Amino acid sequence: MTTPAFAAPLQLPSETLPNRLAKAAMTEGMADLQGRPSDDLVRLYEAWGRGGAGLLISGNVPVDAQHLERPGNVIIAGPQDAAAKAALRRLTQAARAGGAGFWIQLSHAGRQTPALVNPTPKAPSAVALALPGKLYGAPVPMSGDDIRAVIRSFAEAAAVSREVGFTGVQIHGAHGYLISQFLSPLANKREDEWGGALENRARLLLEIVRATRAAVGADFTLAVKLNSADFQRGGFAPGESMQVAQWLEAEGVDLLEVSGGNYEQPRMMKMEGLEAADVSGLPASTAAREAYFLDFAVELRKHVKTPLMVTGGMRTAQAMNEVIERDGVSLIGIGRPMVVDPDAPRRLLEGAPSLDRHEERLRLGPGFFSQRSPSKTLRALNGFGALYWQYQQLRRIGRGQAPDMKLGLLKALMDERRAQTAWMAGRARGAAS
Ligand SMILES: Cc1cc2nc3c(=O)[nH]c(=O)nc-3n(C[C@H](O)[C@H](O)[C@H](O)COP(=O)(O)O)c2cc1C
Repeated sequence: MTTPAFAAPLQLPSETLPNRLAKAAMTEGMADLQGRPSDDLVRLYEAWGRGGAGLLISGNVPVDAQHLERPGNVIIAGPQDAAAKAALRRLTQAARAGGAGFWIQLSHAGRQTPALVNPTPKAPSAVALALPGKLYGAPVPMSGDDIRAVIRSFAEAAAVSREVGFTGVQIHGAHGYLISQFLSPLANKREDEWGGALENRARLLLEIVRATRAAVGADFTLAVKLNSADFQRGGFAPGESMQVAQWLEAEGVDLLEVSGGNYEQPRMMKMEGLEAADVSGLPASTAAREAYFLDFAVELRKHVKTPLMVTGGMRTAQAMNEVIERDGVSLIGIGRPMVVDPDAPRRLLEGAPSLDRHEERLRLGPGFFSQRSPSKTLRALNGFGALYWQYQQLRRIGRGQAPDMKLGLLKALMDERRAQTAWMAGRARGAAS
């Protein structure tokens, strides 16, 4: 057997990753009520750390406690006390025990903050998510001071991350969170220096990258996750993403992860959102490929020298090798297979031809398929059901249990909702006492 291309180490300016397989960021929701890593979260990363990946990227770690991506996030908002740093160190030690690099994904959810966390989250403009249900609140436009505070929060959190043993930081500029909202002409209607022309919409991301680099120094990995497109008419477009990538290269970003979509258009998982038609402006073949965003990455490769990571849909060893050898991609992101099989990278390294594809079977019920065009509400319910199913599997690994492949989507929805409500209630009690 020839050695697969993904088994080769990757030399980055500040670290060497033992191979090209990366666990993509997946929100865990398993922090304690102070937003610190719990024992279960440490156990989950022990499992992933043993699983053979060359790199682990944490799930969303918000830099602002009022703007969580989800109840239960690990939070690094402001300076951390000794107990918080000790808990974070336990996490990084567990994740790195098998030799993998470990990057923290820093984020701010903006208008995608659940209403359970904050019914009036700050965002570029007062443009609410157009999702059915009342899961997300009414955003309040940020002031210039709010924006500058967010930039400082990313930099501070990055400095703490370095101190507690992460090997790199990934700024979450994708998937419709705050930075991605600023990039999108649909969510950002500002008329000041933070809105309008692309250089204004990209200012927040670039300022965060600059402040973060200043905080962590030149010898620490700084990566960005960026949307290839929002897949929405009038949204952040592929040509704009190329331009932003070039600006990020000029800032000395060490790696760019290419993804796409947001809560309204969850294309990062190849799901249909509010707009069923593909309005991305990307070539039609993208949808047909195993790697959802590969065509964009191939094009981007012509414009930037920054190493690229592609995430989304990668399931076969053959495709992973091709993407590295033929297309010049440096890292392969693997998400959902790692939810039910923490050893997925090791299996590939040992010669397995492909990974689990459970997501293809996750439907609310057989009736979902028989409707030619399920309603927006049903589509959203199915999307959240599938995601919450995956959340429950992560909780199980954290408790030392095997995945439950028979778990129903409705039960997953109810269990997750209960866990999130309990976490918020516990936090409120803590704040009141
Ligand atoms: C349970 C779950 C949680 C996720 N959480 C995050 C996250 O915190 N940050 C992020 O950038 N992407 C997140 N994603 C998206 C993944 O990083 C990845 O882009 C997506 O799952 C597509 O890759 P895959 O086809 O290999 O699963 C999440 C995906 C899943 C399934």
